[in-house]
Amino acid sequence: MSKTSNINRVDGFAKVTGSATYSAEYKIDGVVYACLVGSTIAKGRIKTIDTKKAEWAPGVLAVITHLNVDKPSGYQKAKDKHNFGQPLQIFKDDSILYYDQPIALVIADSFERMQYAASLIKADYLKDEHSTELKKAANQEKKVETDKGNDYHRGEHDGYKNAEVVLETEYTIPTEVHNPMELANIIAKWEGNKPILYTKSQGVEGTRRSVAGVFDVPAEDVEVHAEYIGGAFGMGLHTWPYEIAALIGAKKLNRPVKLVLHREQMFTNVGFRPYTIQKMGLGATKDGKLTGLTHEAVAMTSSYEDFMEGTVNMSRFIYDCANVSTRYRIVPLDTCTPIWMRGPGEATGSFALESAMDEMAYKLDLDPIEFRKRNYAEKDLEQNKPWSSKYLLECYEGGMERIGWKNRKNKPGSVREGEWLVGYGMGTGTFGCYRSPTSVKAKFSADGNLVLQCSVNDMGPGTATMMTAIGSEIMGMPVENVIIEMGKSGLPKGPTQGGSATTSSVGSAVHDSCNLLVSKILGLANETPTFKGTPITDLTFANGVISSKNNSKTVSLASLLATNKLEDFAVENQSKGTEEARKYSIYSFSVHFVKVLVNPNIGKIRLAHVVSCADIGTVISQKTSAGQMFGGAVGGIGMGLMEALEIDHRFGRPINNNFADYHVPVNADIEKQEVFFVNKKDPISNPMGTKGLGETALVGMAPAIANAVFNATGKRVRDLPITLDKIIENVKV
Ligand code: MOS
Repeated sequence: MSKTSNINRVDGFAKVTGSATYSAEYKIDGVVYACLVGSTIAKGRIKTIDTKKAEWAPGVLAVITHLNVDKPSGYQKAKDKHNFGQPLQIFKDDSILYYDQPIALVIADSFERMQYAASLIKADYLKDEHSTELKKAANQEKKVETDKGNDYHRGEHDGYKNAEVVLETEYTIPTEVHNPMELANIIAKWEGNKPILYTKSQGVEGTRRSVAGVFDVPAEDVEVHAEYIGGAFGMGLHTWPYEIAALIGAKKLNRPVKLVLHREQMFTNVGFRPYTIQKMGLGATKDGKLTGLTHEAVAMTSSYEDFMEGTVNMSRFIYDCANVSTRYRIVPLDTCTPIWMRGPGEATGSFALESAMDEMAYKLDLDPIEFRKRNYAEKDLEQNKPWSSKYLLECYEGGMERIGWKNRKNKPGSVREGEWLVGYGMGTGTFGCYRSPTSVKAKFSADGNLVLQCSVNDMGPGTATMMTAIGSEIMGMPVENVIIEMGKSGLPKGPTQGGSATTSSVGSAVHDSCNLLVSKILGLANETPTFKGTPITDLTFANGVISSKNNSKTVSLASLLATNKLEDFAVENQSKGTEEARKYSIYSFSVHFVKVLVNPNIGKIRLAHVVSCADIGTVISQKTSAGQMFGGAVGGIGMGLMEALEIDHRFGRPINNNFADYHVPVNADIEKQEVFFVNKKDPISNPMGTKGLGETALVGMAPAIANAVFNATGKRVRDLPITLDKIIENVKV
């Protein structure tokens, strides 16, 4: 284990003491306050909108609607409106495409006056019939012409049907909402034609490009600050209409405009995990060899933007099976567009696949782990490539031991602790390892500090801490002397934070830039009289000192800087993936194990023990990674047991649009939680051998819980979340 493996969060102190500045907290001179008024119907047109009372209210500076808006010039240039990445064009016309769609922006000189004025706006509508229920609309599926959406077949189409043992099942997951603690927020202003945004974004460069497109300005002219983010879980991967509204308002008034969504608007205006219906078909021999696997998914999108995710993809490669078919369709509904959320695609898909695998194991009377081992994929049959590394078996072993799998009985309802039925379950997770081109500047200054710069964000997973750990290891210096500058435009360009790719992308760039910096320092040192003639390979750099072998001669960096009349040494370098890596299939793997206690009388489910195991390649920081694994697993527990956005389909609007009614797990909901990392370097993925963690921390958790509940009770729940009403009936006691 490296020295930096247990360092504390480098931004932890700033965050818990309140000195970290989140976007809405910037002190901007002359800032004024804005909010959005939403439609009260889900589909139709605005017949009339009365803004007069609001305009006349005290302190009101502007009320902007589709009737008086100066439309951003980029609206005209928008391409196919259904492409993902063409969000709703706010105030474009009188059409209403979803409930709570913004119909007016109210700006006033104080927060209270803005709120009051907004309450005075009244609209009348011409209502159309809306469709917000996927189960009813599912027969209008769209054929999706993309790589992700194309039908996939290997071997015989729907080959499972010809097997000795056949299983056909259907699973649903409801809409789930990201709901980070920090609300979506922005302070928008303009300097001439240059937009400046302090906003909640997971991708500084992505936000620059989207805003540039909408306002028809060069991306380089868009300034974005997103230095601290209070959680996002994927909702910051899109530039949303509220951000454009604030920019429209700021432009009109030529003043900075602050806009913070209400909690209720977080349920309607900034995306969610899409409601998805999945059908599984599994076929196996009597001795447990999978011979066919079909996975079909139908998911919702909005009427104006096609959102897709890799829901069925995991089923193509995770098991050794000759005949695999996958189909994926989306259905437009009258809602806001969904967006990637915590383990996107795979989290949904794994619920169906890993539940079905469990159901089949019972049909075959096999231990679920044994069934998976009999179908272990030695290579990626989808891409026909070797794995770069795969330590999934180690994850199974590590989890079985920690959870006490030997106490599990294959017969449901056969283990008790007092009045509680005991059940054990597991679910496998995976996520692709991606790496984007990333630039990092590394600068070592005479004061002994290393500054690492990159425009990438840290929404909470610990990116700044990871960068510090890598930089301090390579430069041989204390972590206290590493300064991270990130999360804003103007810095060397980093990737969007998402898809578990940040460490692979940014960590590699830190690694490469720091190594270059060391070699530059050694190169200069080699020219000093002290080291003249010493082979450069005999020189090392640590703790600010260049030393020859055996420390016989040393030169301090400070004196080297002085000799060269320099204030600092700096390199800026771009790192990216290799051609070699394309020859391999690179995935992280995880397995979640759960021990549940179910009270058969009242249906209460207790999570007595949760163990999450992962093969994520090298673990850069044990403490930071464990924190992320704990948090991701809790997200999966929410998915399994609690989270669902309930819609009143008569009106197309959410019912539980608040933290009191939309439930997420808290500490008291999980009695014992552990994580385990295999921590073996991947030889291919990147210079550090990491593979990515964030998403696998969640993928596979929901089915692990469903499988444990079945093992405890004999009740199979195929529609999430597993609330007590679904198990209280038919529990075998
Ligand atoms: Mo993640 S859902 O890519 O923020």
